[in-house]
Amino acid sequence: MSAGGRALAPMLPGGLPWLGHALRLREDPVALLREGAARFGDVFSIRLAGTRVTVFLGPRAQSVFFQAPETRLSAREVYRFTTPIFGRGVVYDTTPAAMDEQMGFLYPALRDERLRAYTRAMQEEVEAFVSGWGDEGELDLAAAMNELTVFVASRCLVGEEFRRALTPDLAHLFHDLEGGINLLGFINPWLPLVPAFRRRDRARARLGAMIGEALAARRARAHASVDFLDALLEARYADGRALTDHEIVGLLVATIFAGQHTSAVMATWTAVLMLEHPDYLARVLDEQCRVLDGEAITLEQLRRLAVLERAIKEAERMHPPLVMLMRRILEDVHDRDLVAPAGGLAMVSPAAAHRLPEVFAEPDRYDPDRFAPGREEDRRARNALIGFGGGHHRCIGSAFAQQQIKMIWSVILRRFELTLATASHRPDYATFVVGPRPPCRLRYRRRRRVAVAVPAAGVGQPA
Ligand code: HEM
Repeated sequence: MSAGGRALAPMLPGGLPWLGHALRLREDPVALLREGAARFGDVFSIRLAGTRVTVFLGPRAQSVFFQAPETRLSAREVYRFTTPIFGRGVVYDTTPAAMDEQMGFLYPALRDERLRAYTRAMQEEVEAFVSGWGDEGELDLAAAMNELTVFVASRCLVGEEFRRALTPDLAHLFHDLEGGINLLGFINPWLPLVPAFRRRDRARARLGAMIGEALAARRARAHASVDFLDALLEARYADGRALTDHEIVGLLVATIFAGQHTSAVMATWTAVLMLEHPDYLARVLDEQCRVLDGEAITLEQLRRLAVLERAIKEAERMHPPLVMLMRRILEDVHDRDLVAPAGGLAMVSPAAAHRLPEVFAEPDRYDPDRFAPGREEDRRARNALIGFGGGHHRCIGSAFAQQQIKMIWSVILRRFELTLATASHRPDYATFVVGPRPPCRLRYRRRRRVAVAVPAAGVGQPA
C-alpha cells in the first residue's frame, strides 16, 4: 500500500533481475503489454533496468496520462537525451514556459496557408526524386523514403538555400543524429568516446554550420519571404527578445528531427500495407483517377483523397512509428485506487493501444474502412488513435506529415506500377522509430501513361 491507501499499480511478473522486462519489451512490446492488460486491466507496471514503469493502456487510462500537467508527468525529463542534438537552451533543455513559447514559434510554419505553399514544393521534390528511377528497378523502400523525406523537410522547413546545399550524400547526417539515441544516451548523452555519440556530434556540427549559412544568407537578403525561416527570424519571446541564431538552428534541427524519420516510416508502412492488400490498393488507384486531373496536385485535391487517407490512418494504427511514449513521474499520479509513484516512469504505447479489440474491431486485420463515415472507430473514445500522441504534447506536425505522405504516394502510384519484392514485413522494435525489419524492397515499373482521369496538356504521354 502507498500513501493515501492506494495500491501501487500491479507489477507484471517475469522479467530478468535488474533488466526486468527490457528484453521482452524490445522484442515485442505489443505482446508484452497486451499480456499486462489482459491480466490487470488498463493500468499496471513493468520494470525496466531497475525502474518501475507504470503503463496506461486503453483510451480512459491514456487520457489520464495525456491530461497530466508537466509538473506531474514530465516529457522534458525523459527527452533530455535530445540536448546534444537540438542544443542547449532549446526545446526540452529549457523551462516548460520557454519550451511552450518555442513550440508556439513553430505553429505558423505548420498552419493552413503554409501547408498550401508546401504542396508544390513537396510535389517537386517527389517528382525530382523519382525522375532518376529509370523505367524499372528495385530499391530499399525504407531507405528511399528516408532520403526523400529529408529533402522534403529541408526544403519546406528550412528553405531552398539549405535544400540546394543538401546533396544526397548529406542525407545520412540526419541518420547519424538519430544513431546517437540508444540506452546509453538515456543514461548520459554526453559520455565521451562513444562512437555513435561522436558521429552524432559531428553530424550536428555539420548541419548546424549548413543551416547557419542559410540563415546568414537570409539575413543578408533585403526582402522577406513568407516561410519558416523568416517566421523564426521575426519571432519574439514574451519579453520582446528575438531568437538567437543558436536557438533558430536548434529549433530547425528539432523540427526536422521530430518529423522526418517518423514520416519516412509511416510512408513506408502505408505502402507496404497497401501493396499487401491489392483490393484496397485498387480502390486507392481508382480514387487517384477520379480526383487528380492534371500534373499539378493541389492541397484541395489531396484533401479529397479519402481512400488514401484511410490507408495512412490504418498504417498509423497498425504500425505507429513511435511505439512508446514516456514521462518521468515528478508527483504521484492517482488513478482510481491505484498510484503511479513519483520517481518512476509512466508510459503509453500507441502500438499496443491500437491493438485492443475493445477499441478497434479485429485489431490485427488490415481494414482502413474502420475509419470511414459510419464506423469511425477512432472517434468512439478520446485518445483511442494516438500515433501522433495526445494532450499538451500532441504532435504539431501531423497535418504536414499526412499531406507529405499523400503527396509521395499520389506521385509515385500515378507514375509506377509497384509490387513488394519481399514478404512478411514485421516491425523492427529494436530501433527508436519502428519501421519494417529489413529487407523491405520495392519493385517498380514505369506506367506507359500517368494514371489520371482526364489527361491535361503534357499528361498521359508515354514516359
Ligand atoms: C508520421 C510522422 C509523425 C509522427 C508519427 C509523429 C509522432 C509524434 C508523437 C507521438 C508526438 C508526441 C510525443 C510525446 O508525447 O512524447 C510528437 C510530437 C511532436 N512532433 Fe511529431 N510526428 C510526426 C511528424 C512530425 C512532423 C512532420 C513535425 C514537424 C514538422 C513534427 C513535430 C513534432 C513536435 C515539435 C512535437 C513535440 C510537441 C510537444 O512536445 O509539444 N512531427 N510527434
